Amino acid sequence: MAARVQAGSDWSGLPVLVTGGASFIGSHLVDALVARGARVSVADDLSSGALGNLADHLETGRVTLHEGDLCSQAFARDVVAGQQLVFHLAAAHGGRGYLEHNQAACARNLMLDGILFDAARGAGVEKVVYASSGCVYPNHLQTRPEETVYLREEMVTPPYDADNTYGWAKLMAELTLRAYHDDYGMKAASCRYFTVYGPRGMENHAVIAMIARAFVGQNPFEVWGTGEQIRNWTFVSDIVEGTIRAAERIDDATAVNLGTMERIRVLDAAEEVLSYTGVDTEIVTRPEMPTGPYNRVADNRLARELLDWEPQVKFIDGLHRTIDWYFAARDRTNVGTDLEKLLLER
Ligand SMILES: NC(=O)c1ccc[n+]([C@@H]2O[C@H](COP(=O)([O-])OP(=O)(O)OC[C@H]3O[C@@H](n4cnc5c(N)ncnc54)[C@H](O)[C@@H]3O)[C@@H](O)[C@H]2O)c1
Repeated sequence: MAARVQAGSDWSGLPVLVTGGASFIGSHLVDALVARGARVSVADDLSSGALGNLADHLETGRVTLHEGDLCSQAFARDVVAGQQLVFHLAAAHGGRGYLEHNQAACARNLMLDGILFDAARGAGVEKVVYASSGCVYPNHLQTRPEETVYLREEMVTPPYDADNTYGWAKLMAELTLRAYHDDYGMKAASCRYFTVYGPRGMENHAVIAMIARAFVGQNPFEVWGTGEQIRNWTFVSDIVEGTIRAAERIDDATAVNLGTMERIRVLDAAEEVLSYTGVDTEIVTRPEMPTGPYNRVADNRLARELLDWEPQVKFIDGLHRTIDWYFAARDRTNVGTDLEKLLLER
């Protein structure tokens, strides 16, 4: 086995598995690991991930793809064998509409995570890095947009109050990794991602949904919720850098926020999308549609301290880059025809 993973590690030749590596975030992580010279495998059932996200790597043979369902113990054992590091991103996951309307599918993540962690331990994997979420934070702290609240890691404490079965499964996975570290000595880290956006993002998440609506000239332009809800959208390259630093610097299953501390009101983001794209349309709010918490923003002090990480991309710049990508990559007729489905499904 190669040298242990630590700050300043040489990644070249390191055997690394990315579960869910065909996804939006997963594929950007794969790009960064390949660029560091790691020997990267991906395990994905392609239920929401897309081969197109990995096309270059698959063509050049730099990445090995294992297509299958990680809820199968045999498949999970097979793909973790010989890996030194596992980044676990595979999950039943989608935007707000998906999470609220697919509780049973999201609960399946409890099984997926348990099987994967057990397989990793059995195979002697050195470390598991887990894609957790802001959805582990107590709902009751996130209801008042007029309050300036920054969610700190230690606020996730009994009595827990996670966000839907999706959030509970993320929380259980964090706790499982902590127990595996304490009882079995398996190294681990959990990264709590906060509302990620960027190229390859999906329309079922708010930023890409707003861009898609502008792209097809939706009129009136719909904003789900009252529009007063506050988010801290975090650009995907910052998330990837934080995740790799967590792999290098955290061993004891500590969970760390990866999110900006920029407080963005959804209506302001929608107005910026319309202004940058030059689309002249009226905004209407839809409070009855899936909205999520009204006030979710990370405190990222722990990431600064443990990972020497801070977000490099300001929301306004990341938004413009994402709009430029979307307008160049997507087909207007297809998006127009499928918009309702794209917004709600995975
Ligand atoms: N996008 C965000 O804002 C955000 C925020 C917090 C956490 N996360 C987490 O980050 C990870 C990646 O999310 P994403 O937004 O890039 O896209 P995503 O939801 O499409 O990623 C999930 C990936 O897992 C794969 N997958 C699902 N079930 C599987 C199974 N049973 N077996 C094998 N593969 C399976 C999918 O095909 C997909 O590639 C997920 O774990 C998600 O929960 C994302």
